[in-house]
Amino acid sequence: MQSKINQYKAEIAVFKPTSSIELETFRIRFLGTKGILKDLFDDFKSVSADDKKIFGKVLNEFKQYTEGIYQQFKDNFELGESTQKPHIDYTLPGIGLETGGRHPLNLVRKEIIAIFKRLGFILAEGPEIEDDWHNFSALNFPEEHPARDMQDTFFVATPQSYQNNEDKTKNTYALRTHTSSVQVRLMEAGKPPFRALMPGRVYRNEAISARAHCFFHQVEGLYVDEKVSFADLKQTLYYFVQELYGEGTKVRFRPSYFPFTEPSAEMDISCTICKGSGCQMCKQSGWVEILGCGMIDPNVLENVGIDSKKYSGFAFGMGIERITNLKYQIRDLRLFSENDARFLKQFQSEII
Ligand code: DAH
Repeated sequence: MQSKINQYKAEIAVFKPTSSIELETFRIRFLGTKGILKDLFDDFKSVSADDKKIFGKVLNEFKQYTEGIYQQFKDNFELGESTQKPHIDYTLPGIGLETGGRHPLNLVRKEIIAIFKRLGFILAEGPEIEDDWHNFSALNFPEEHPARDMQDTFFVATPQSYQNNEDKTKNTYALRTHTSSVQVRLMEAGKPPFRALMPGRVYRNEAISARAHCFFHQVEGLYVDEKVSFADLKQTLYYFVQELYGEGTKVRFRPSYFPFTEPSAEMDISCTICKGSGCQMCKQSGWVEILGCGMIDPNVLENVGIDSKKYSGFAFGMGIERITNLKYQIRDLRLFSENDARFLKQFQSEII
């Protein structure tokens, strides 16, 4: 038995595994349930009682020695594996950085603003919660007048502290139904001439569908000076359409009604999709409406303290969603507010 152990010891002393598989083979051979140590302990059973004392010690030392060697190599391998660099394939393509994009409504709003800036229009803004005076009364919507029903309104509960104004029109609040309210604020705050563009969000109490939403965006335009005429209005809007939709886009004006303009008109452009030959977008008519406009009613000018005998002006208002739909052929208004990345990503490459 002693000589066997000596032989194994000599073998183990020069053992240098180069892989964990080699080490595992070593473990099975020496320390496994059917391994060399198991055999030696079996042999030990038949050793005479006198020899047991000597060989018991020798055998236990050998067992510890073998286990020690195994453990040492095992630790080394584990340490080595955890510090080993992961395998990197340098030929794989890199992961590109995702850039953000502009919302299509923002793109179009910026474009509209840029066009009117070239004509000398400045920017103005107003609040989204608006009182009756600025949203309706000053704009020549008399109280109880059916014209107020043209726009389904979200009224806002007014706190007690706001109700001490004698003027009822300043005690009632609503989410503004149009950006025309900003015209009133602008004219009240200054003196003519005015030449301003007023973009903003507006609200209407409408059921949400592909064609209507409870909020949308408008751009309002206003020009007030001495001797401003309908010809100025037409020329300004004509220039705008050529710049936005391209030269050759036709325009036409149809008589309409708005309480704050007289005369009033709606402006159509030749359908940007079928170029006038008739399609789904223009309901086969070849024309699509894009805005309302007109000469500012003298009553409105007087309401904001402007002498209507000396000054005249024009105004127009358009929905940004509508302009965007026509530009990008979008057929469902809900897409603008759903934040679906698949929709928004399509505008990523647009730079403005
Ligand atoms: N405020 C109108 C609307 O929301 C649009 C409009 C029409 C604005 C004529 C104007 C205008 O300034 O002159 O339906």
